[in-house]
Amino acid sequence: MERKHIFLIGFMGAGKSTVAGELSRQLDIKQIEMDEYIVQEQGMSINDIFEKYGETYFRELETKLLTGLKDQERVIVSCGGGVAMRSENVEHMKESGTIILLTASPETIFYRVKDSHDRPILNGNMSVEFICGLMEKRREYYEAAADIIIETDGKTAAQISEEIIWKVSCL
Ligand code: S3P
Repeated sequence: MERKHIFLIGFMGAGKSTVAGELSRQLDIKQIEMDEYIVQEQGMSINDIFEKYGETYFRELETKLLTGLKDQERVIVSCGGGVAMRSENVEHMKESGTIILLTASPETIFYRVKDSHDRPILNGNMSVEFICGLMEKRREYYEAAADIIIETDGKTAAQISEEIIWKVSCL
């Protein structure tokens, strides 16, 4: 199958949604924000889904969304931060698209997410130490899934988007 979609993966606060918006504008391709899609489809916040049905249920919703993209027209998908932890998700993404990993330092991530309360994994764990620890646990999964890795510290969404377009064209 043609690798048509563009998947942005990476830790919470890596800038996936913002960069997907910029890419969407620059390439004129529709964008799907996974969390937003799931919230609308379920009619509940991510916090409530975790609380009421548990994390595994939420992870199933993410997988279902990805499998449903196979026959759709080209889209840019900003994935939830946990998506690349499941090997079946990575297989689905590899079959149908190019996977771009956005990275940032734990300090940058902390700065970007510290005032948000809509990420159940971070609620009650909002510290650079926790972010650093979880990032290290996830790093090998993110890196193994990625076709392209982009560091985002100190860059604007427009610069990151241009870098992605350039690197995708070189694949
Ligand atoms: C999660 C990341 C969140 C959201 C959920 C779980 C994670 O998405 O899917 O809170 O496990 O890393 P963002 O990466 O868009 O914040």
